[in-house]
Amino acid sequence: MREFNKHIILIGFMGTGKTIVGIELAKHLAINYIDTDKEIEWKEGTSINEIFSTKGEEYFRRLETVVFSSVINSNSPSVISTGGGIVLSKKNRIAMCDSLVILLQASPEEIYARIKEDTDRPLLKNEINLLSQITNLLNQRQKLYKEASNYTIETGGKQISEIVAEIVKCINFKE
Ligand code: S3P
Repeated sequence: MREFNKHIILIGFMGTGKTIVGIELAKHLAINYIDTDKEIEWKEGTSINEIFSTKGEEYFRRLETVVFSSVINSNSPSVISTGGGIVLSKKNRIAMCDSLVILLQASPEEIYARIKEDTDRPLLKNEINLLSQITNLLNQRQKLYKEASNYTIETGGKQISEIVAEIVKCINFKE
């Protein structure tokens, strides 16, 4: 079986498919899968929504950095899906440097269509103009996503299996 010497980290805005793509990619590569949001929820014993509403975003971001650093340092090469705001912290961006970082991308309209019914994303909850909130946040973060990533994959209109196949090509190209 193939040996991997690096983590494969999936970054990107909410609703770009990091979780489902990560799960399928890890299955395909037969390596460990980790989701930083799930790790945070497990560590705190509650949901991301609850953490935001009771302790605030700043607390969540500090926790995210602690969890991300420990995930990166204490696991064998894994597929790691991250929360959409992971790139906001310089510490997190530096921690990614030794990994293969894949940016999953989609247009604001596509993201809107995918997440408009969801209630588990505190930064988009109760937004009167959801599409413009998505567009604004995406614009604020786009530069950081690009800087932190080795490859960008457009996810719009694609099947999960196609996205996984594109990531596998990037891995083969890099090694
Ligand atoms: C966030 C994205 C969420 C979660 C939290 C904050 C963000 O993860 O970490 O709600 O700042 O973009 P997903 O990208 O998996 O929705």
